[in-house]
Amino acid sequence: MAEAVYQQCIDARCGATYGIEQVLAACPACGDLLDVRYDWDRLPVPDSLRAFESRWASRDRPLDFSGVWRFRELLNFCDDRHKVTLGEGQTICQPNPAVAEYAGAARDGLFLQYEGLNPSGSFKDNGMVAAFSHARMVGARRVACASTGNTSASMALYAAHTGMQAIVFVGAGRIAFGKMAQALDYGAHTLEIEGDFDACMRQVKLAAERCGLYLMNSVNPFRLEGQKAIMYRVLEALHWEVPDWIIVPGGNLGNSSAFGKAFAELKELGLIDRIPRLAVINSTGADTLDRLVNQKHLTFNAGSYDRQAIAEDWQWQDQTERRASTIASAIEIARPVNAAKCLRALEVCNGVVRAVPDSEIMDAKAQVGRCGLGCEPASAASVAGLRRLIAEGVVGRNQRVVCVLTGHPLKDPDATVGYHTGRYKPGKDARGPRTFANRPVRVVDDIEQICQAIEGLGAGQ
Ligand code: F0G
Repeated sequence: MAEAVYQQCIDARCGATYGIEQVLAACPACGDLLDVRYDWDRLPVPDSLRAFESRWASRDRPLDFSGVWRFRELLNFCDDRHKVTLGEGQTICQPNPAVAEYAGAARDGLFLQYEGLNPSGSFKDNGMVAAFSHARMVGARRVACASTGNTSASMALYAAHTGMQAIVFVGAGRIAFGKMAQALDYGAHTLEIEGDFDACMRQVKLAAERCGLYLMNSVNPFRLEGQKAIMYRVLEALHWEVPDWIIVPGGNLGNSSAFGKAFAELKELGLIDRIPRLAVINSTGADTLDRLVNQKHLTFNAGSYDRQAIAEDWQWQDQTERRASTIASAIEIARPVNAAKCLRALEVCNGVVRAVPDSEIMDAKAQVGRCGLGCEPASAASVAGLRRLIAEGVVGRNQRVVCVLTGHPLKDPDATVGYHTGRYKPGKDARGPRTFANRPVRVVDDIEQICQAIEGLGAGQ
């Protein structure tokens, strides 16, 4: 009899299946991405999402406290004894009238899902706990990832927690200071590759095979199982009411892929009656998805998508020496490994893709900072994207929208200080008006002049 949980190739023309004890970064038969699949009839699943609320009463148990594992029936691939947790997922999803007004939405229509509250300061922790649990299940000792910074910070943290050896591949000089600090502080072996994220990704896949490392990037299907929980928490915060739109930045496209899978499964299980629309936002400096979807009109086509078209785009990038470049370093990715899964999510969620320039991303970031919470540059792409989509009339002013803020503001202090002061790191200057720059005022060490400077500030807000 087939297993109740298994891995399966996402290409409908292949569809090969594999056991969950196998460690695979791609389908051995055809090279496409793998999914974790469940035979729901043979697994215990609650008949209403409200049933998960009972776990609030037993928050003293680590697995019930975790914002990922308290939904464990929806990612039921390992025994409790293997599950890893550091209390991730204590996030908030709150309305933000001021940011709503900036984006052009109704004041009560925009919710911000703030993932900066995770133990390592980004949404990656949701996925890491799932992948680390699988790594424990298969007895892995050494883990590796390529990263624009947050994956490496999160992996390094959970490796330290579980006693595994962590090896991170980052592009030299290409990751934000806060994230680099985390990888080093949590004790990860950090390889600064002389190349960009796409080069790191290529190398870590090779190194994982050659050296027997457990790969923690989002090509690992178990990681994306954990990231589904972000959407479970959004629904929970909205009292299990499905919003009209979910808006998320797109880099390697793991998050958007996981969200699409989460909603497809919830619908299949009858736990929701409709699926929200999804908007994935690129930076114009790293706009591969935007090009594939809006110029080349690529669709998932129920699993029979045009793989050749993606390969041709990669070739075109080589020929034209096109590289990703954006102040939002977290999404500075030209060859998103989950492109095909993201196309599937767009199909499931009737989704759209937009690319926004760095100046709009940084202005939106400043608004998110000024109106509470704060976030890193890549996260603000969701708010900048919403502003565009409302201006275009794609998102209605009175629709209920959730923007995912993927990472904490302290992740990238250089970008923030650069925006407000105009002093960017060499090579990283988001050109544009810097509409909301909050310039520091330099004053000599003298009380008279300090008071004069204070009077000069006016009455304040
Ligand atoms: N926002 C932040 C803060 C990120 O760190 C990332 C990705 C994204 C958005 C994009 O998410 O890849 O799922 O589309 N960071 C990865 C990393 C690539 O290595 O930390 P995605």
